Amino acid sequence: MDSVTQPAAAAPADVPALDIDPFSAAFLTDPYPDHERLREAGPVTWLSRYGIYAVARHAEVRAVFADHATFVSSAGVGLANFHKETPFRPKSLILEADPPDHTRARTVLARILSPRVVTGLRETFAAEAEAMVGRMVARAAAGAVVDGIKELAEPYPLKVFPDAVGLEAEGRENLLLYGDMIFNAFGPRNELFARAAAKVQPVTAWIMQHCARDHLRPGGFGDLIYRAADAGEISVAEAPMLVRSFLSAGVDTTVNGLGNALLCLANHPAEYAKLRADPGLARQAFDEATRFEAAVQTFFRTTSRDVELAGARIPAGSKILMLLAAANRDHRQWPDPARFDIGRRATGHMGFGSGIHACVGQVVARLEGEVVLAALARQVATIEPAGEPTRRLNNTIRAIASMPLRLTPA
Ligand code: HEM
Repeated sequence: MDSVTQPAAAAPADVPALDIDPFSAAFLTDPYPDHERLREAGPVTWLSRYGIYAVARHAEVRAVFADHATFVSSAGVGLANFHKETPFRPKSLILEADPPDHTRARTVLARILSPRVVTGLRETFAAEAEAMVGRMVARAAAGAVVDGIKELAEPYPLKVFPDAVGLEAEGRENLLLYGDMIFNAFGPRNELFARAAAKVQPVTAWIMQHCARDHLRPGGFGDLIYRAADAGEISVAEAPMLVRSFLSAGVDTTVNGLGNALLCLANHPAEYAKLRADPGLARQAFDEATRFEAAVQTFFRTTSRDVELAGARIPAGSKILMLLAAANRDHRQWPDPARFDIGRRATGHMGFGSGIHACVGQVVARLEGEVVLAALARQVATIEPAGEPTRRLNNTIRAIASMPLRLTPA
């Protein structure tokens, strides 16, 4: 069914209705004015165009995340309702599952990505960050304007993360195409979705081929998933699907998490100066960038029963859009929320979700963010925009295609 032309259900009487399209090019280019309208219209709003509910305040986004029995993921975490429409791809065993199925898959992935395991990656990840930043700084020293996306935010996660999963080096650009496709597919069937769907066959074939055990280096995250199958924790058929979860969720997210952090620092020289003075702030700075310019902007839930949320009566089977990025700038939660401030403790932001589905890869993502920003702080005296960044619009991800920067080597 076409979600765009699908006639919207009648607006509920007890919730403000808005004609905002959170998947239009204008919204995706600059979501912040509409976030403000959505937040201030009420704790729960109705988006007439799609016939869905939306929550944009921190308290309600957190409440939806917290009640996974009422606000389920198994009907899809995008606009499509899997009880009515066929999923775009076979459902994720973790992201698009509820307990007890979710618990089983989550236990395996959480162990593989535990802080202890990820600590073992620190040295390799840090060395690669120093080297890659070093190459970019050398080009800047020779007078070049560098591209923060093409020279750092894209190649860095594309190197370290698939290496950790145990993927071969060739063909990794497919991971970017796959991420773009998956995250567009959470939205409506608009032009962005069509662009993604056009490439689906070859890219999916590549991904599934590389999720097979014989394509994965022994000892990498992918192989560890197969060992969990050997131990009977998950089935052999489930193993490649969980490797797929790493490959879909672990690249485009960090690419844009890093890209957005770089943009924030380039646009806020005083904050960069603080980081430069104390590279120990790198982890906190990455977290603040994830609050301020969230790489993952939205996710959906579906109600499993009639429920009252902040006074709104929401019937069973309703789709609810959670605007994570709007919650991250809710003045009810954060003092001066539209200020990028790396001195702030951004704990509690919704950029990695919250509750039982909170990002299982956030230890890896934070490690990548920390070591890249710390390498910059050590090697780069100042970062300035050298022109407007070019956005890559995506239904879910706040993405940048290229970002010209002028760097002064330290
Ligand atoms: C800056 C980078 C990242 C951001 C902003 C991000 C964001 C998120 C968010 C918001 C969720 C919650 C989804 C929901 O509640 O429906 C999530 C879940 C998830 N993330 Fe991440 N993520 C990032 C990096 C990663 C990495 C590096 C991996 C893999 C190592 C990963 C794997 C996953 C998985 C498997 C889930 C599903 C967890 C579950 O359903 O229990 N993510 N992520």
